[in-house]
Amino acid sequence: MSATAASPATSATVQEFVRAKTRLAPVPFVDEIRLHQAAEAIALWEETETAQGKAGLAPPFWGFAWPGGQAVARYVLDHPGTVAGRAVLDLAAGSGLVAVAAALRGATTVTAVEIDPYAIAAIELNSTANGVTVDAHCADLLDGDAAPAEVVLAGDVFYERAMAQRVLPFLERAHARGALVLVGDPGRAYLPRERFTEVASYQVTVAADLEDRPVKTSVVWRLSS
Ligand SMILES: C[S@@+](CC[C@H](N)C(=O)[O-])C[C@H]1O[C@@H](n2cnc3c(N)ncnc32)[C@H](O)[C@@H]1O
Repeated sequence: MSATAASPATSATVQEFVRAKTRLAPVPFVDEIRLHQAAEAIALWEETETAQGKAGLAPPFWGFAWPGGQAVARYVLDHPGTVAGRAVLDLAAGSGLVAVAAALRGATTVTAVEIDPYAIAAIELNSTANGVTVDAHCADLLDGDAAPAEVVLAGDVFYERAMAQRVLPFLERAHARGALVLVGDPGRAYLPRERFTEVASYQVTVAADLEDRPVKTSVVWRLSS
């Protein structure tokens, strides 16, 4: 496996911001993987809120390993056959945790898609830190069908209504053309459970500052026919 992320697209300034605001540390529930994680969670969140509109900063989702992503990454690491030898897409990748897990377990190609350039910088840094290649792609693909991915992985994507309303049809189109679709979710309000079958359930340590409990049940769901 070669080192470094495939895309050098992010500017040095953005990468430097991500590096300055984070510490490289193992993910509690996925400790084979080290991520650049927010050093001061609340301060970083407030800083990006203050800067929104001025510098166009989105919330720093990239600074955290969200419980849904931790569950999918754990599942992939423990069930390498899910991704080995296959083309994988990590939708709404944030830090790139799930993408890194797929690359570590032998996916042929791993694409991590995000709309936030700061997340792209984090994915590049995190891929490099874990010695894997991930193609970090800054785009909104939700009107497509995830082709040519054979496996679509998504951690914590049902956290708001507008996003959920676009994500489900996207995942259904991917499923309809034969892709395996796995979603990690800690009980977010907009998960359409009736469309999914549970494949694993974990107790995941989460960022206490951002969630209502220090440990959450996070489920890996497979999109059903
Ligand atoms: C709660 S975070 C989850 C991050 C990661 N999957 C994890 O579990 O740690 C949700 C992410 O969705 C990204 N996002 C929102 N809309 C998106 C879209 N249309 N396409 C790609 N990513 C999107 C956000 O930028 C954010 O990083």
